[in-house]
Amino acid sequence: MARAGGKIILLGEHAVVYGVPAIAAGIARGAEAEASTAPRAVLEIERLGRFRSGEPHDTARAFSALLAALSAPPCAVRARLELPPGCGLGGSAALGVAIARAVLDHLGTPHEAEDARVLKATEAWETVFHGNPSGIDAAAAARGGCIQFRRGHPPEPLPVKVALTVAICLAGPASSTREMVAGVARLRERRPQVVDKALEGIHALVKNARLAIGAGDLPALGRLLDLNQMLLSGLFVSTESIERCCSLARDAGALGAKLTGAGGGGAVLALIDGDATPVLDAWHAAGFEAFETRVAATP
Ligand code: PMV
Repeated sequence: MARAGGKIILLGEHAVVYGVPAIAAGIARGAEAEASTAPRAVLEIERLGRFRSGEPHDTARAFSALLAALSAPPCAVRARLELPPGCGLGGSAALGVAIARAVLDHLGTPHEAEDARVLKATEAWETVFHGNPSGIDAAAAARGGCIQFRRGHPPEPLPVKVALTVAICLAGPASSTREMVAGVARLRERRPQVVDKALEGIHALVKNARLAIGAGDLPALGRLLDLNQMLLSGLFVSTESIERCCSLARDAGALGAKLTGAGGGGAVLALIDGDATPVLDAWHAAGFEAFETRVAATP
């Protein structure tokens, strides 16, 4: 079985589409896949369905695009996703990376030496779902660890002084990244100054967050997450449910909380100082699904 992790965006979603750097980190939960010989390309994703090449379905089209990017012959792939799809945790990119790795392994080209091909294939897969992805999901899923990502540039690994404990909650419902990105683009057409001011603000927060992560200053990082959430609300990508999950986390002692990914529903993350239990309990008591993840310190 080939594997890949999902991701969280710590700061900079949406702004990253317009060239602002963003900070993302790989998470352990993700996807796994296994490929075998078959006369026709078919992808079976546990609980999500079976997709054959040529079918008029995004997943079937994305699978064909991924195989074409790898110059791979038709094959059968069985995959399993460990993250809810459409919640901003990089589930589709994790699937893309796991499938690309599985196909390369099956072709006798061990994927460990083929990072660039895996990334290219995952970008082809992501483009079918997202239209105009910045590439951050694919980069974080393919690479893991904490990265700074700037559109069109190779991801830059970021030194992490103190491991980050992050609680994640599904504020829901699932949302479409493509539609959320299009919504921000429409807002930018109508009110360019407002959006560009928000993008500048997010850029400043990302620069400071990079310093805070490098210095292990968790309280500062928490405040930067809160400020990023405020600017994202100004772009109309937050929801009542996201705001509620952020408040519940802060009231339960989180250092900061924000949506992660495209917004419009999906996931919220909270930075924890020490034990995540009080924040997870607060979310569970309010009926939200939640779990904990860690971003390891770099040696
Ligand atoms: O795929 P999501 O929901 O994690 O969103 C990705 C982040 C965006 O900045 C909103 C879109 C993009 O392509 O970078």
